[in-house]
Amino acid sequence: MNKIEDQKKAALQAVSNSSSIEELEALKIQYIGKEGIFKLILRDLGGLPPEQKREVGATANSATQAVTNAIILQKGALEAEHLTKRLERERVDLSLPSATRPKGGVHPTMQVMDEMIAIFADMGFEVAEGPDIEDDFHNFTALNFPEKHPAREMHDTFFFHPNEGGVRKLLRTHTSPVQIRTMISGKPPFRLIVPGRVFRNNSDQTHTPMFHQIEGLVIDKTIHMGHLKWVFDTFIARFFETDKVITQFRPHHFPFTEPSAEMDVRYTRNGNELKIGDGDKWMEILGSGMVHPNVLTACGIDPNEYQGFAFGMGVDRLAMLKYGVPDLRDMFAADTRWLNHYGFSGFSAPNSVSGLS
Ligand code: DAH
Repeated sequence: MNKIEDQKKAALQAVSNSSSIEELEALKIQYIGKEGIFKLILRDLGGLPPEQKREVGATANSATQAVTNAIILQKGALEAEHLTKRLERERVDLSLPSATRPKGGVHPTMQVMDEMIAIFADMGFEVAEGPDIEDDFHNFTALNFPEKHPAREMHDTFFFHPNEGGVRKLLRTHTSPVQIRTMISGKPPFRLIVPGRVFRNNSDQTHTPMFHQIEGLVIDKTIHMGHLKWVFDTFIARFFETDKVITQFRPHHFPFTEPSAEMDVRYTRNGNELKIGDGDKWMEILGSGMVHPNVLTACGIDPNEYQGFAFGMGVDRLAMLKYGVPDLRDMFAADTRWLNHYGFSGFSAPNSVSGLS
């Protein structure tokens, strides 16, 4: 009887001291397994008188039960401890970059923007910027759009709700308001370009509600239309890197220029392919003209002393033509398959020395 109690104590002690599942398994076999100490005691009961047999049997059974319970508890504790340690050891830092190399590419619009900036920088133009959210004054009034004139509607403007004062802000419909901002805050002469995003409520194969323009402005005392034409011819030759491009320069109307002209590029569409050079279609790529005296006056510049030209080029359309993109809407569909096909390496910094593309 005492022997059983001693063994039970020893077993409980060993179980609570055990520090691994393996150790615990060994104790289980040693004490309560088929050949375990308590089983052997029970097996040896044969020679005892019935009274004693029952008593020893009961003690051995309760010792077996106690040790079994202790082992189950200890096993649970060891497993929990093991899990905690493992979690600590294997902690994952979610801020680390993933193992697969991220794939990306420069969007053709941004590539073309960089190419255009490189060409104009070479001709001595500096880069100016302005806000995407504009007011009526900079987007229309100062650019000589008459009040209530249909030209304001022509731009398919996205207006914001009027504020408490009843003033409606808008998403700029062109980069021309930056002409106004730079002329008001600076002093002539000016020779600048303005790359930027513009917005119009319009969508088809050659129109998207958001697109990109590069505005140009050259103001000095003797600037004339011949300079404007030279800048375009030089630009087109350098940008397309071929002399096969056919353009036409055609009279047009803009409120902020007089006279005004647009330039188109000859192209053809063959199924899903778009090609410049020969062809039967014209794609308009820019608007331009001599800055209207009213615009200069609105900016505090004397039109009797200064004059010059301005232009606005469609960046995405130039990208379509140069890189053969058939549908302008695909450019902003955010489809990585499209970008993998038309995208550029981030290391291909376009410049006029090592080449544009
Ligand atoms: N702002 C015009 C448009 O988006 C383009 C344009 C035409 C800009 C003539 C100019 C310009 O600076 O002189 O349709």
